[in-house]
Amino acid sequence: MSASHPLHVVILAAGRGTRMRTQRPKVLHTIAGQPMLKHIAGTATRLGAEAVHVIVGHGAEQIQQSHADMPINWVIQEQQLGTGHAVLQALPSIPKEARVLILSGDVPLTQLDTMQALSAIDASLVLLVAKLDNPTGFGRILRNEQGEIQAIIEEKDATPSQRQIHEIYTGLCCARACDLQRWLPQLSTHNAAGEYYLTNIIEQAVHEGLKIASIEPEHLFEVQGVNTLVQLNQLERDWQEHLARRLMNNGVQIADISRLDIRGQLTCASDVFIDVNVVLEGTVSIGEQTQIGPHCVIKDCSIGRNVQIKPHSVLENAVIGDDCEVGPFARLRPGSKLAPHCKVGNFVEMKNTVMGEHSKASHLSYLGDAQIGQHVNIGCGTITCNYDGVEKHPTIIKDYAFIGSDTQLVAPVVVGEGATIGAGTTVRENAPDHALTLTPSRQKSIFGWKRKSKVKS
Ligand code: UD1
Ligand code: MG
Repeated sequence: MSASHPLHVVILAAGRGTRMRTQRPKVLHTIAGQPMLKHIAGTATRLGAEAVHVIVGHGAEQIQQSHADMPINWVIQEQQLGTGHAVLQALPSIPKEARVLILSGDVPLTQLDTMQALSAIDASLVLLVAKLDNPTGFGRILRNEQGEIQAIIEEKDATPSQRQIHEIYTGLCCARACDLQRWLPQLSTHNAAGEYYLTNIIEQAVHEGLKIASIEPEHLFEVQGVNTLVQLNQLERDWQEHLARRLMNNGVQIADISRLDIRGQLTCASDVFIDVNVVLEGTVSIGEQTQIGPHCVIKDCSIGRNVQIKPHSVLENAVIGDDCEVGPFARLRPGSKLAPHCKVGNFVEMKNTVMGEHSKASHLSYLGDAQIGQHVNIGCGTITCNYDGVEKHPTIIKDYAFIGSDTQLVAPVVVGEGATIGAGTTVRENAPDHALTLTPSRQKSIFGWKRKSKVKS
């Protein structure tokens, strides 16, 4: 087998996943926020194979829908008669001169270089194997005295002494399509599970005197299979730890590697500090020297250099310029954009709002559909009344404006440059530049008025 033969990938994902004890098809359970199948199919598509075939059966429609964006050739296995039977279903779509890389939908984190190594080795059959402290549940690798692979024996079929073997089959291998065409139809169901085991092709290859090679992955998480929710959680933690260590090796300081969750693509500069219980989702980039406080959830955001995101802030689809300060307890919803040196403090909600340099909203405000200039001060309790019950309207606040506390800005409305809005004003018409605008209401006091009292006289 050589690299000149076209490569086809087959991913097995038709099983019911009985041991998960959930309604959801097994391969739709997520690791780092993504279905297991999406991880493995995503890596496989980066191999440059001619085709990626995914065998589905249980929950096929649901699985296909959630991977509609991927270039996958779906193959239906009506009845799940075993892993050997599953691969057989894909063979009609694979040319006989091809190499076939077989992956497993429930072994989601195999890395690209491992897949490349598996498909590049010159042997009839290449197996990905691993030595595990606890091999329970896996097929064991049987070797002869020369160390040559003779068979894979499933746990259910193994003798007590075979169960002592720590070298296991990971479920991943690479074979020639022409050999699979010969071997797979000959499989039998004479085993403890009554299934067509893919692993029985080893004996056929040995019988034909063919060369069987094996390699091991760099990381154990690459071959960790998921059959139960406990294993799913274990793999999630191992993967998160791997991601955290990778960040630390690039100069990112992390308060506790077991309390950081990265669910997507993170680009993080050096000298960043990430405190405990932070969740980073989607595509997030963080610039140098930025600090992310505890309990923040940040999704699809671009955060500049030297930014302070203080505890309990929730940011989605926001752009934060350099030297800004956000939170604690800030909520930046999609379309929030802060220029450098802005401050958005506690209990401030922003949506589709752009803030110019050196502007501040330090406390308790709702700023929606607003365009805020530079050096603007938004007082505590400012609300943009952007919704009239049918449509959303914009609020424009020009440079150097000062919005007094407890102001309602009834949109559409413009606050002029350098304008001052008195505290407690309801701004219904545009406020002119450099003037003080307020709602004139005289304060009055009523003398002799008595508050109700609970104390009986
Ligand atoms: C399989 C291997 C075992 C290996 C282990 C690694 C076999 C017989 N055994 O066992 O040697 O140590 O993986 O994780 O191959 N599937 C189908 N159609 C079927 C049956 C299964 O598509 O008819 C799919 C499943 O959805 C799953 C994969 O094949 O994604 C593996 O099946 P599973 O039942 O999990 O096999 P294991 O018992 O884990
Ligand atoms: Mg499995």
